[in-house]
Amino acid sequence: MRKPRSVRDADIAGKRVLVRSDLNVPLVDGRIADETRIRASLPTLQLLLERKAGEVTVCSHLGRPKGEDPVFSIRPVADRLRELLPDDRIRVLENTRFSPGETKNDPEFARELADGNDLFVQDAFGSVHRAHASTVGVAQLLPAYAGLLLERELTELGKLLGAVERPFVLISGGAKVEDKLGVLEHLGGKADTVLVGGKMAEQIRTDNPLPFDVVLPVDVVAASEFAADAEAKVVPYDALPDGWLGLDIGPATRELFARHISQARSIFWNGPMGVFEWPRFGEGTKAVAEAVASSGGHSVVGGADSARALSELGLADKVSWLSTGGGAALELLEGKELPGVAAIPAAA
Ligand code: 3PG
Repeated sequence: MRKPRSVRDADIAGKRVLVRSDLNVPLVDGRIADETRIRASLPTLQLLLERKAGEVTVCSHLGRPKGEDPVFSIRPVADRLRELLPDDRIRVLENTRFSPGETKNDPEFARELADGNDLFVQDAFGSVHRAHASTVGVAQLLPAYAGLLLERELTELGKLLGAVERPFVLISGGAKVEDKLGVLEHLGGKADTVLVGGKMAEQIRTDNPLPFDVVLPVDVVAASEFAADAEAKVVPYDALPDGWLGLDIGPATRELFARHISQARSIFWNGPMGVFEWPRFGEGTKAVAEAVASSGGHSVVGGADSARALSELGLADKVSWLSTGGGAALELLEGKELPGVAAIPAAA
């Protein structure tokens, strides 16, 4: 994989540096629900301050606002960033998506962002699959470098694209089936075992478009309706009563999947096994999270839901790498070129 040049090799002292971080954190009633991405952005900013940058201007998108909607103001995130890293040289720009030029990669908006800066550091791994003004446009106007988080993400996820220790177990779940088929197609043939749960499993069971075998659930927690307190019962996977919904993998499947995971030397997990936000349908995701966390192999977890499940279970630091990227991690593992990375000159 092509390696972009690193901020560690940039001449920083006295320079005005524009940094694209991924500060797109979940906000609930204006409060930050999970600050993982803010914390993950700190090492690059700290490095710039240590290397005596003159000014550090941080920019990021937040959510998907339609115009300048104050609900999506980056202010609470900027305040938290300043609390974690109090330094007068840092300032945070308002949500880049308040400008219509951002998602269109409009050269004028890119120019506005670049103006007054000497260097650009791309650290927003979660956003490099987007060709936007703050990810691609500015990188074409200023000397561009990869930040520490971006580098680390590319290294850790990239390990799965190279030679892996075997057995390599790929675990796929979640609802966004179309988003994930590409990864399954790209990595699945290389994996020794592919475990599929969640909504993915239903689609593959009825019409397997994949050129390799997968391990599907043998039982399922069926619910009478789509509700947290629905009547629920465990049934064989192919005996779902009419009108009922499979909202989690059943106990036999949990055991089966955990057995495969315990033997793995390399693991990639993306997507929950059921509607894990509802405790009655969260046991399958919990079992997979625990099996991945206690595996002795190299374990990589990507995607917002799997990351959230691991964090809620207090297991986030028990995996080898927990990616901050959702779509970006999937596209990387699909073998696609990430425009925000391609826009940075290669390392020498
Ligand atoms: C993410 O949350 O995956 C990134 O921040 C990208 O956000 P987007 O899907 O709104 O571009």
